[in-house]
Amino acid sequence: MGEKPVINKGLEGIYVAETKLSYIDGENSRLYYVGYSIEDLAKYSTYEEVAFLLYYYRLPTKSEYELFKAVMRESREVPDEVLSIVRNMVRRRAHPMDILRTAVSSLSALDPEIDQRSREADIRKALRILSKAPSIIAAMYRFSRGLDYIEPRNDLDHAANLIYMMHGKKPSEFEAKVLDTIFILHAEHGMNASTFASLVTASTLADIYAAVVSGISALKGPLHGGAAEAAYWQYKEIGSPDNVEAWVKNALDKKRRIMGMGHRVYKSYDPRAKIMKELDREVASKFGGEAAQLYSIATKLEEVALRELSKRGKVTIQPNVDFYTPIAYTALGIPPELFTTIFAASRIVGWTAKVIEYVENNRLIRPLDYYIGELDKKYVPLDQR
Ligand code: CMC
Repeated sequence: MGEKPVINKGLEGIYVAETKLSYIDGENSRLYYVGYSIEDLAKYSTYEEVAFLLYYYRLPTKSEYELFKAVMRESREVPDEVLSIVRNMVRRRAHPMDILRTAVSSLSALDPEIDQRSREADIRKALRILSKAPSIIAAMYRFSRGLDYIEPRNDLDHAANLIYMMHGKKPSEFEAKVLDTIFILHAEHGMNASTFASLVTASTLADIYAAVVSGISALKGPLHGGAAEAAYWQYKEIGSPDNVEAWVKNALDKKRRIMGMGHRVYKSYDPRAKIMKELDREVASKFGGEAAQLYSIATKLEEVALRELSKRGKVTIQPNVDFYTPIAYTALGIPPELFTTIFAASRIVGWTAKVIEYVENNRLIRPLDYYIGELDKKYVPLDQR
């Protein structure tokens, strides 16, 4: 066993790869995809363009963009076999993330290129998964309400089509832009837990579906992608801006975590949360109702939590992206149990782009653990114990 090594719990501060995909400056609230600031991408770009950027490390020309979008649109359909699996799991009340994971896994059986491992084949497979994910999410939404599946509409962009497939109505330009922005903000984010899970799987040279299934599995928990759903229920528990002061003091005294706050890398305001907060202000004033109520609770919670955390010497715990997405999701009629699936659908591009980048110069990921148990114990046969 030797001398006890330094154990980096949670792999904090450990670099495991080089990348040209994204850069997070956690001290200064900055995030870039392939060198472009997240603020510019959220404002001027689209999810499809961001996906192209992450697979090809450059923005597309107009014709490349149109072709790329056409390929994505044509891949939206989900085979009946997979829809049946979704329907059965919905009937069993499985969690939507478990259904998404299973549906993506089952799609692998139907992909004719499953065993092809070139960069171009991997991008093609990734685009198929990426394009079908919203159809799977919409199917879950419809089946869980006893409604029929709606076929994708090929004249709509990625985000707009998801809203259409859920509600059967073409969204307004603003609604489509809100969801498209959410997709852009979640597309890629350094070596987070789910990306690392994808990479571990891909480093064994398992296929890209296996890597995406690993990513979905790791994203589910409330410390990662599940935080937006947890934040939504936290706002519901608080109930009104008037209850925030007492709620925060009580929560912090009981060492409860404020969901949607804190981050391993950002020690300042998450720039994605800033973009979402601004968008939510518009969402709340345009939609009113529950979205406006959630917005007033969230903004008050931010103010009080920052003050109370700072009194406790914790100035680096600030809102992350999951703090403000529940408001926009609610305005779009997306229920809380589906929040994490939208995050997953967006992050498929980040997982697969990172995997494709890594396997080009692959090395099996195989760290060590330090054994602290006993050795040379005497084995006692079963009938003598
Ligand atoms: N509320 C209150 N205290 C907190 C919070 C929070 N949200 N986050 C961290 N702390 C405290 C924590 O209790 C600990 O205090 P102490 O040192 O007194 O025990 C200290 O800060 C350090 O916490 P940690 O868990 O060691 O730090 P970490 O780097 O492992 O935590 C985190 C990162 C995201 C797991 C954590 O901040 C958290 O649990 N946040 C709430 C869940 C959440 O919003 N997750 C979404 C992350 S961003 C979207 C994504 O990429 O998934």
